[in-house]
Amino acid sequence: MTTDQLQFALAFTPSARRPKPCLRPCLPVDAPGSAPRRSAAINTLQTEDRPVHEWYRFVLSFPPHLVRQCLEACAPAPGGWVLDPFCGTGTTLVECKKQGIPSLGCDAHPFAALVSRVKTDWSLDTSDLGHALRRILRRSDLARRPASRKPFTWPPHRPETEDRPEPLADTPASLDAWLSEAEAKLLPEGFLSPRPLERLVRLRDLILEETAAEPVALREFFLVALAHVIANGAGNFAFGPEIFRTRPKPDYDVCGHFARQADAMMTDLAAIHAAGLETTPSRVLHTDARTLQDVPDDLAAVITSPPYPNEKDYTRTTRVESILLRLVSDRATLRHVKQSLLRSNTRNVFSQDRDEEEVQEFASIRAVCEAIERRRVELGKTSGFEKLYPRVVGHYFGGLRRHLRALRPKLRPRARLAYVVGDQLSFLQVPVATGCLLEEVAAAEGYRTLRRDLWRERVGTKARHATATGQSLRIREEILLLEKT
Ligand SMILES: C[S@@+](CC[C@H](N)C(=O)[O-])C[C@H]1O[C@@H](n2cnc3c(N)ncnc32)[C@H](O)[C@@H]1O
Repeated sequence: MTTDQLQFALAFTPSARRPKPCLRPCLPVDAPGSAPRRSAAINTLQTEDRPVHEWYRFVLSFPPHLVRQCLEACAPAPGGWVLDPFCGTGTTLVECKKQGIPSLGCDAHPFAALVSRVKTDWSLDTSDLGHALRRILRRSDLARRPASRKPFTWPPHRPETEDRPEPLADTPASLDAWLSEAEAKLLPEGFLSPRPLERLVRLRDLILEETAAEPVALREFFLVALAHVIANGAGNFAFGPEIFRTRPKPDYDVCGHFARQADAMMTDLAAIHAAGLETTPSRVLHTDARTLQDVPDDLAAVITSPPYPNEKDYTRTTRVESILLRLVSDRATLRHVKQSLLRSNTRNVFSQDRDEEEVQEFASIRAVCEAIERRRVELGKTSGFEKLYPRVVGHYFGGLRRHLRALRPKLRPRARLAYVVGDQLSFLQVPVATGCLLEEVAAAEGYRTLRRDLWRERVGTKARHATATGQSLRIREEILLLEKT
């Protein structure tokens, strides 16, 4: 084993840290003089966790060290399967696989399901990948890329003239030349400049052509590398934590970034193979966690982080990647994706939605919805979106109730579940104590709470977050640890 491979294997050693018990009321107010447990670093990817986790991560991801903490708390029996029903970009699954624990993930968003699939398929042959990458790069516009500041690890091959694409015009064509009318309408304005878009589309088409006769998994591997280029360089957007537009980029080294990223992913795979770590099973289903269709029985534990009720449009976070990878191509497919997601913001509420009816009996949830509506009236807010706020909260907890109900028969007796959820103030600053309310809903579906631990907290620093006494609210993200009764 080389030093790199050894370091990689060592990175799989589970953390020994144990979560502390929770002794808290919902949404506590600062005690004067006390310091909050808040830290952006707490959510940062640690250096030793980079292999595979870094292939593609989105802003909504939780960190691998949090999954290790949850694994300790859930203690799945050896060989038992761990489920992440809202798996996003696969942090739970990758971490389980690194530790030799079988895992199953579900996500209703096709892009998240794709990323998780690729990050957990460690069976691809690196020499097949290498040949395919060489073929793609040989026909790419690599020769015309701007000078790269980082060393380029994959040997550039001489382009073969008969295969070369049309040269780039001096002036880039408009966005519409590279997207269908329906795709262009879905792309948030200014998120991509014409020249980087042209390079991305040309490269995508080369990937599709050069892998047409190969297994789907090989094609998807390169598409995820391309998604990394979009989200981490070619696009004019960033996260803070909301997605926002950055300065337009006249050009970008799409092929150089792609080659380096694919090369790094292949290096991780080679290290996995050398360490013999590829055998632990992992499956990803593109399915709705409220129904859990096709999810098998006998699950040993659940570790997950569902969306938070926070007015964030989850389909916007990965919109550019979803369009360019042809997973969302028009309004109808976007609507279909939104309908399959847990309701958590007004952009994915539809007139036929009924999930809120599931939680009518909970006085605590009704009280939050009524408080939001009262605040709306007090503030004289009359937009259609603002009128929907109370319903979002109802649908959110109703959807989670459906999820917990569908899940129970699939769990082993006394299986443990860790839900990472955040309190919110997004609806006219009315506190939504997500962990607290979810605990009540879970109790009604046959789960008992073992504990509710603080993971991290933000302080509401804006004036409107302050209480009448001038103290500021702490907004908590918690790990709710449940057990099937
Ligand atoms: C907070 S993110 C999870 C992030 C994940 N822990 C990670 O590390 O990447 C929530 C995920 O839930 C997915 N989701 C939302 N509604 C869903 C549903 N009804 N069924 C399955 N997945 C859903 C979203 O697409 C998103 O990927």
